[in-house]
Amino acid sequence: MSIALVTTIAELKAATAALLEERAGAGAAESGTLGLVPTMGALHHGHAALARAAVEENSVVVATVFINPLQFGDPGDLARYPRTTEADLALLGEAGVDIMFAPSVEEMYPGGEPMVRVTGGTMGEIHEGASRPGHFDGALTVVSKLLHVGMPNTGLAAPDGSGRPAYRAYFGQKDAQQLALVRRMVADLNFPVDIVAVPIIRDADGLASSSRNRFLSAEERESALVLSRALELLKGRADAHEPLDIRSAEELVRSAPGVELDYLEVVDPDTLAVRAELCQDTPFTGQALAIIAAKVGPVRLIDNVLLG
Ligand code: PAF
Repeated sequence: MSIALVTTIAELKAATAALLEERAGAGAAESGTLGLVPTMGALHHGHAALARAAVEENSVVVATVFINPLQFGDPGDLARYPRTTEADLALLGEAGVDIMFAPSVEEMYPGGEPMVRVTGGTMGEIHEGASRPGHFDGALTVVSKLLHVGMPNTGLAAPDGSGRPAYRAYFGQKDAQQLALVRRMVADLNFPVDIVAVPIIRDADGLASSSRNRFLSAEERESALVLSRALELLKGRADAHEPLDIRSAEELVRSAPGVELDYLEVVDPDTLAVRAELCQDTPFTGQALAIIAAKVGPVRLIDNVLLG
């Protein structure tokens, strides 16, 4: 079955309803469930993993490709963002996605920029939010819209009688703060959707997949490996229940040529609040998330790893 490309909300609703109806009762364990994979395109193997996870768990899968102007602070960044529709369609088709929804800005924001927005509050202002003011409010606003326009009109109760929604949306663990904020939005505002986190996909050398990796020179790419190495160092210490020694990890990052560390923090995985007490001279216990952001040459990269 080949992938369909739709560009309007009306087409998306009609195509989704038709496929759900066609596949209902077809005997699949998860017959009648819809998986949504929101993206901004420029897809790579990290996105392919999101798409495959959705295809495995749902009878119909929609991926959205929309470069959301609301989440870009710098108009230059928005203009430079890679637009690779044909390649995106091929990657999603290969992964088994049924529908690619690629709306125009006018289709998503027919009245211009929305006056009412979703805000991540203080949780959206720390870490990534501190260096990208307004970014998470823009991302949450479009995710909220995409979750609504992608929501199936019928069959919201899961066919297994569990009372769970038959609607799931897939986000990468790589954008840990975005994932935590989306989970929070869905819980706080009662969205009838299950949020599924998909683990980070890394290249063989440890670099986390990102649409921005394509902008790294060979030397910068080599330097960028220090991000995952610093996280591995912390993970090794956490696994051995040793003090985390975050300063050595920071020094490691700063020693790499062309790397400018923004932050390396140990935080609560759900609230992203800094867990400074875990970085003292005591053995590590419990669970936390180590998050890092750095500029490597002109490219800002983020990464994270679960500790404990
Ligand atoms: O992670 C992304 O690609 C974007 O922030 C998202 C979730 C598609 C919203 O534009």
